[in-house]
Amino acid sequence: MSTHFVTNTEFPFEAPQKGQLRFLLSFAIQAPSGHNTQPWLFRLNEDHVDLLADRTRALPVVDPYDRELAISCGAALDHLEVAARNYGRELSIEICPESADADLLARISMGNVVTDELSNDLFTAIPKRRTNRTQFEGKQIPDALVDRCEAIATDLGVELILIKDRIERLNVAELVAEADRVQFADHRFRRELASWVHSRRRSSQDGMSGDAFGMPDMLSPIGALVIRTFDMGKGIAAGDRKKIVDGSPMLAVFSTSNDDVRHWIAAGRALSRVLLTLAAAGATASYLNQPIEVESLRPQLRETVSCEGSPQLLLRFGYGTSLPPSVRRSVDEVLV
Ligand SMILES: Cc1cc2nc3c(=O)[nH]c(=O)nc-3n(C[C@H](O)[C@H](O)[C@H](O)COP(=O)(O)O)c2cc1C
Repeated sequence: MSTHFVTNTEFPFEAPQKGQLRFLLSFAIQAPSGHNTQPWLFRLNEDHVDLLADRTRALPVVDPYDRELAISCGAALDHLEVAARNYGRELSIEICPESADADLLARISMGNVVTDELSNDLFTAIPKRRTNRTQFEGKQIPDALVDRCEAIATDLGVELILIKDRIERLNVAELVAEADRVQFADHRFRRELASWVHSRRRSSQDGMSGDAFGMPDMLSPIGALVIRTFDMGKGIAAGDRKKIVDGSPMLAVFSTSNDDVRHWIAAGRALSRVLLTLAAAGATASYLNQPIEVESLRPQLRETVSCEGSPQLLLRFGYGTSLPPSVRRSVDEVLV
């Protein structure tokens, strides 16, 4: 399997900053990203590392403004921070530093030694976290865990709106179903999605294999062909509606006060921190971003969940079956 997960290696305390930062990158690359595009690049310098958007990996149909791309990069940034804190180091992070380069999203250097380490559980959750698209068990997420996730998002400047009301949930289910129909009716959306679905046996270390969609990996090429060729919108819509109504103990929207690159990065950092917190507690999550991605439905979702800001992500939380990890490119491949 072409994964490059590092879990047990010890931090190179004696190495210069550059070596330390490079070591930490092996955790950043395990972050989630839209279609597993891994749209990040890192430029290592003697005393800092730059996080850059890799727009050659953009998804122009589903994400025309590179909003989810920036969220994915924000998630990688948070993974980096969680890893550093595990080794007793704070990171000094400048978001969108003054630069002529619009792809430069963050400049990061090693900061102080910290004794109040972030929970080691978050760090050990990095290789355990998965996007789990299966129907979840009926077991509820404990209130204390939900409260913790809300507080974590707030600390990072992001609001986590919990959808608890049954009518609200049904309305969200309808919006997701409507968005599925809109997206799958668009052959450009299907072609883009299909181009990121491939078998694990292929040499590429990005994209999603069939098992991410609950089909055997060997059927991945067929899955891609089917996605590209047929409008399965109605079936997908029905499946998602059922998942929301019966198989999603908690639904939540990540919302930001503004809709710009800084806030997208903040949403990504909060996403990562919440997902790691859930994974550390044995819970899992998957995405239902469709009504945010379909521009005409975003205001409706906003109204439905009484969101005062800009909805960035819609997720379901719960407990599900275990899944294999998805592939990643190596650190060497994401260095500029
Ligand atoms: C910003 C963002 C948007 C995503 N949108 C979706 C989505 O709409 N539907 C979905 O099934 N997965 C979505 N994902 C999950 C990715 O497909 C997943 O992270 C990737 O395939 C890697 O798998 P992993 O999370 O299990 O490591 C999204 C992830 C991110 C970070």
